[in-house]
Amino acid sequence: MGTMSEPLCPDCGGTGWKIVEREGISAAQPCVCQQAERLRTIEERAGIPPLYRHVSLDNFRLPTEDPAAYRQMAAAVLTVRSYVREFPQPDRPGLLLMGDPGTGKTHLAVAALRMLIARGFEGVFFDYQDLLARVRASWDPAAGASERDAYRTALEAEVLLLDDLGSQRGPEWVVDTIPAFVTHRCNYQKPLIATTNLPDEVAGDDLL
Ligand SMILES: Nc1ncnc2c1ncn2[C@@H]1O[C@H](COP(=O)(O)OP(=O)(O)OP(=O)(O)O)[C@@H](O)[C@H]1O
Ligand SMILES: [Mg+2]
Ligand SMILES: [Zn+2]
Repeated sequence: MGTMSEPLCPDCGGTGWKIVEREGISAAQPCVCQQAERLRTIEERAGIPPLYRHVSLDNFRLPTEDPAAYRQMAAAVLTVRSYVREFPQPDRPGLLLMGDPGTGKTHLAVAALRMLIARGFEGVFFDYQDLLARVRASWDPAAGASERDAYRTALEAEVLLLDDLGSQRGPEWVVDTIPAFVTHRCNYQKPLIATTNLPDEVAGDDLL
């Protein structure tokens, strides 16, 4: 699909259909540019913050100077890889990345989300604090549709990435809605990828 700012696809002239000749018969088939376009739309709709738009496992560096850290990060990368490879696995719908600030949790989580998007699943990114704020705002009678939609989207998205889970103590009733919908997603075996700085006992198996 062409826009004014982009050149038209040379294969289909921007129509989205390619005419192929097969044994004397002309047939129209969808052009690959539509696939790329669709992927771009899904990535845009996914709400991935600009800082992470291009993260992948390929541009994730392993700490080579520290063997212990290396093993730990290599294991995390392997976990992400196998999660994506075996996706969807209804009995293991969650991927939880725990660790200290700045260690690359969001990088790995978004890398996983992007790989799933590339495979055709619809994924969305939500910052936990942002989602809390929207849930809170949605209770205001004057709330816009986007606030109400956020909660619904987070609840129903095919794949949800919840970044920095538990990072903020808000009013209790707001914070309570998060476990409620984490539970909802678990009950319906809907995939959830989450990152957190919380220690294992707080964040771990209770949630995912
Ligand atoms: N091992 C790595 N290789 C390449 N880039 C990295 C790596 N670790 C972190 N980064 C980059 O550094 C920045 C910070 O990493 P990231 O946001 O993923 O950390 P985090 O663990 O989520 O931190 P926080 O706990 O503060 O949320 C990002 O731009 C990320 O792409
Ligand atoms: Mg992070
Ligand atoms: Zn085309």
